[in-house]
Amino acid sequence: MNKNDLTRRQFLTAVSAGSLAAVASGPIPAYGNRSKRAGKLAILGGQPVRTKAFPGWPIWDKNKDEERVLSVLRSGVWSRAKVVAEFEKKYAELMGAKRCLATTNGTNALLTALHVLGIGVGDEVLVGPYTFIASIDVIFLSGALPIMVDTDCETFQVNPDKMEEKITENTKAILPVHILGLPANMDRINAIAKKHNLIVVEDACQAWLAEWRGKKCGTLGDLGCFSFQNSKNLPCGEGGAILGDDDEIMDRCYSYHNFGRPYGETMLTLSGYVRLGTKCRMAEYQAAILLAQMKRLEEQTKRRTENANYLTSRIEGIPGIVPHKLYEGVTRAAYHLYPFRYRKEDFNGLSRGKFLSALKAEGIPCSGGYGPINKDPYFERTLRSQNFRKMYSRKRLNRCRRQNHCPDNDQLCKEAVWFSQNLLLAGKSDMNDIADAILKVYENRGKLA
Ligand SMILES: Cc1ncc(COP(=O)(O)O)c(C=O)c1O
Repeated sequence: MNKNDLTRRQFLTAVSAGSLAAVASGPIPAYGNRSKRAGKLAILGGQPVRTKAFPGWPIWDKNKDEERVLSVLRSGVWSRAKVVAEFEKKYAELMGAKRCLATTNGTNALLTALHVLGIGVGDEVLVGPYTFIASIDVIFLSGALPIMVDTDCETFQVNPDKMEEKITENTKAILPVHILGLPANMDRINAIAKKHNLIVVEDACQAWLAEWRGKKCGTLGDLGCFSFQNSKNLPCGEGGAILGDDDEIMDRCYSYHNFGRPYGETMLTLSGYVRLGTKCRMAEYQAAILLAQMKRLEEQTKRRTENANYLTSRIEGIPGIVPHKLYEGVTRAAYHLYPFRYRKEDFNGLSRGKFLSALKAEGIPCSGGYGPINKDPYFERTLRSQNFRKMYSRKRLNRCRRQNHCPDNDQLCKEAVWFSQNLLLAGKSDMNDIADAILKVYENRGKLA
């Protein structure tokens, strides 16, 4: 039998027939290295499955990466100039977009996109709560109201089935987040947007090179935004970008990000300050770092995907471990994070917190991921703030509060387990260690509960 051939049912049969040992001692390598997971759990004083570190992040190759950055530093031209323009050209090409605008970070990329598309006071924006706080912040900071759409727990993405019921005459846009680097259901989201005449701003801040039906995430809506913060798969410390195909809109983005100065063919005849603007220009040394990092992105994305698929094949039969699913339209995932759901019922009621601690003790870095951001006190504080009370009637604010109930997301936030992207840059045997560590905790669950 091949290592991947042990189904969840066979696994359960073997377990309920009396012993995991029967599974482990049989001819089924799927359940890994028994000697590694033998003995006491590390959290109880035993030997951990591994002591070796996973690859660090970010990766910096002194010999290959430094020359360009040093030449920028030595040139004294540190503000936006030709290195940023070179990065924009290359990133647009890589992603299959007509234009790219680099920004100081993903948050400002999103703010710029919302601003130039006219989203502001009075508007409602549909967004999922399973995301990093910035996706919600940018809606509030634009003066609009975020309307929460519950999560599809199988894919960890916003649930399109729950979207239309939230639309009112005030709904102006959808902000789908390709969270964890796994694509959201863009067929459904774009169809809803088209039907209701809504703008789509993709938060692709975790989704470099992810694809929906062969097209890159971030090029599927009106504008797509990216982050290049330190932990990201394409990092430069802090940085961001907007992708778009419409010259007029992209010229407006440029203008807005540069104090409202005119920019591009569409503003050739204009001078001075043509609109309210801000400043969120990328610096030359940020772009020089990105140009070095971008050379590795394709190969790293390939490796993450291979390892993610292999890891799924190794853990999908373990009771209580529910791997994430990808929608049928996903042709590539970026795997900024690798998620699965943990069901404590199959682990003798062992809490997720204790499961995570036991796994960490076995040498596997992991976390429980996002909390329910829609329930964070900051959300209510923002609705109660002077600004929002000036901008909205009590009725509108109350409606926003009422929409904030997302029970599926609440459940997901209790069950999720994440591995960060750098773990997926290790080798196959390291993926085996992850699977063996999970299995070791499973086999010893009774000793921890
Ligand atoms: C989903 C998501 N949206 C937006 C952002 C904001 O990006 P940045 O941190 O570059 O401002 C991030 C970054 O962490 C993110 O993960």
